[in-house]
Amino acid sequence: MERPSSFAEVPHAQPIAVFQLTADFRVDPHPSKVNLGVGAFRTEDGLPWVLPVVAKTEAQLARELEESTLDHEYLPVIGHPEFTRLATQLSLGEASPGLQSGRAAGVQVIGGTGALRIGAEFLRRWWNPELGGKCPVYFSEPTWGNHLSTFRDAGFTDLRKYRYWDEACRRLALTELLEDLESAPEKSVVLLHACAHNPTGTDPTGPQWLQILDVVKRRNLFPFFDSAYQGFASGKLDEDAAAIRLFESHGLELLCAQSFSKNFGLYNERVGNLVIVARDSAALACIKSQIVLLVRAMWSNPPSHGARIVATVLGDPVLRKEWSSSGLSYPGEACVPDGKWAHQHVCSQFTQPQLCCRVYPRCSHNYLGMRVVHHDYGFQPL
Ligand SMILES: Cc1ncc(COP(=O)(O)O)c(C=O)c1O
Repeated sequence: MERPSSFAEVPHAQPIAVFQLTADFRVDPHPSKVNLGVGAFRTEDGLPWVLPVVAKTEAQLARELEESTLDHEYLPVIGHPEFTRLATQLSLGEASPGLQSGRAAGVQVIGGTGALRIGAEFLRRWWNPELGGKCPVYFSEPTWGNHLSTFRDAGFTDLRKYRYWDEACRRLALTELLEDLESAPEKSVVLLHACAHNPTGTDPTGPQWLQILDVVKRRNLFPFFDSAYQGFASGKLDEDAAAIRLFESHGLELLCAQSFSKNFGLYNERVGNLVIVARDSAALACIKSQIVLLVRAMWSNPPSHGARIVATVLGDPVLRKEWSSSGLSYPGEACVPDGKWAHQHVCSQFTQPQLCCRVYPRCSHNYLGMRVVHHDYGFQPL
């Protein structure tokens, strides 16, 4: 008789809701189906859509490969140098005091998720080391479903919530948010959505960010930003990075998980950058050296294709303008030649309604009740 599997006791894990939704969607024969799960660009016919500026850049990269001016050699552990430089600059701004004084930099990682994970791994080892994994980490309630998992798997055990959403008034619960951070133990980590809060679509205003900054500073909390939608909330890259820049301008050390999955439509290329702002250049060098060890042991060095695309576009004034003016402005604006952007976002993002808010810009009523009544396959609350 054959021996049973040594893994016979392994329980089957729950499917990941958002991917299960996509699988159910694929096999549904309904002619008018619309997938409101994963938020990705779509054509009018609901098919995947590649940004024209990305396709053009890829053609250029293919030519460079043919001409042997590009190759497939390993990238440095810390990533594509031009990519990390330009990406970090996109996040912190050209006038960033950290960049100008050599105490801010980026590390290329595997998408925004990789940035969160590597950042969490680093913090668990080196922030509040007396507590290590027992250091409390605060997440907005609600938050993106993967936040808690990345921190839990990085070894953090005390995962807490700060209140964020006032369901009765359908707006930011600022008083409660501030109360929760005020009562956080000193030196806790706090995860903040830089813009286009997922899933509520509601961001603090400038003055509200100042209040959040004040408590983060006073309680000596560590701010870890998640920036997965730069350009999508306001249509302006700088405006959507204002919270990160505000914290930096007040001298705080911080991390920021920067993803190019959404604003470049490069979902499967896993293009991410972990932005580090340190007190001084010596601290930055030490932090980077530790992160190098983490990356080396996890994926050794990052893939180049997506990073090359982003670096080429950001580094070329013409391509950059094409990207930022066609990709990130509000739907309906003149720069959208065929009106595609509006539909793609709206159709694909009702469960992440910050993108619907491109149509109902920046209102405080954007955590729509849509998902409760307008779904067929079910959607697990976050
Ligand atoms: C808030 C938030 N953070 C991070 C990510 C992860 O992005 P990536 O696909 O680049 O890992 C997402 C993706 O949906 C997100 O919504």
